[in-house]
Amino acid sequence: MSFLNGDTVGYDTENNKAVFIDQTLLPSKYEEVFTDSYTEMYDAVKTLKVRGAPAIGVFAGICVAVLINKLKTNDKEEIIKELDFICNDFEKCRPTAVNLRWALHKMFDEGKNSEPAKIKDNLKNLALKMIDDDIAVCRKIGEYGAELLKDKNSVLTHCNAGRLAAVRYGTALAPIYIAKEQGHNIRVFADETRPLLQGARLTSFELCDAGIDTTLICDNTASAVMARGLIDAVLVGCDRVAKNGDTANKIGTSAVAVLAKHYGIPFYVCMPFSTFDFSLENGSQIIIEEREGLEVTDYWYKERMAPGKVKTMNLAFDVTEASLITAFITEKGVIKPSEIKKYMSI
Ligand code: MRU
Repeated sequence: MSFLNGDTVGYDTENNKAVFIDQTLLPSKYEEVFTDSYTEMYDAVKTLKVRGAPAIGVFAGICVAVLINKLKTNDKEEIIKELDFICNDFEKCRPTAVNLRWALHKMFDEGKNSEPAKIKDNLKNLALKMIDDDIAVCRKIGEYGAELLKDKNSVLTHCNAGRLAAVRYGTALAPIYIAKEQGHNIRVFADETRPLLQGARLTSFELCDAGIDTTLICDNTASAVMARGLIDAVLVGCDRVAKNGDTANKIGTSAVAVLAKHYGIPFYVCMPFSTFDFSLENGSQIIIEEREGLEVTDYWYKERMAPGKVKTMNLAFDVTEASLITAFITEKGVIKPSEIKKYMSI
């Protein structure tokens, strides 16, 4: 019996539990985890059991609602103290995606502005609204994106910005799902995405599951498939976009963007509008998460494959310059980097 029914995260309000698919087990095992433990929630995001910018934002909202509804007290001061702790602490576990901070701030403000008797219900309702909003936003991104694709087009994507990275549909893969609904067949080339293999494990899994023609390639094969004329467009997701359009996404994305420019292939970044961080002038101000070297030297190998003394640099994200981006596909429409300023006050 599935509680999530195809979604990636959810809120079991009857039992007051946050629910998520443990993505570290995919594709070999599908497991839904129910929790009301902050330690388990923090660990789930830190270790990428729940990952992908929109998914971690919504999940954080659900977690806050669960944790506050679990409290025995109804005293506003005590609740706000707990809310303040959770929101500040949770934000630190993955610094690059703006969605985590966005969701936690929204939850904190809701709690702070609620009447004492309504705080718990209001937080629960806001978390449920975040789930619905994410689904609606991603569907819209899919509809705008599908308009840019033709039947039998072939798309390259990096990392996983599909349904497993949001509640449903995803961002970069949403146009492919919507195109399929419209009777169009889009072929996808999925970069494996070293070192954590989100492309190989997750993108391949969800696209094959949806019956989409999917070809898995090593990250260093992207240039070769573009040179052979096999790619019509690149679609990627993103974690944070500065005011000038510089975009942080999974490590390796900027290399794909440079290649796309070289081969004259449109490069689209698909994202909820809330991924714009207008407080940042440019990409150099985006904090890039750095993860442990073991992910590079040991993961996926039977035994450590690199010499013991070698140093590692395991940047989880990189920044793609705005000049390499054709457009952002958002729920508000398709926005060119040069048009961002126009949208800032909308
Ligand atoms: O480290 P991850 O797996 O959370 O990284 C995910 C990505 O980089 C995605 O492309 C991004 O979060 C957008 S997901 C719609």
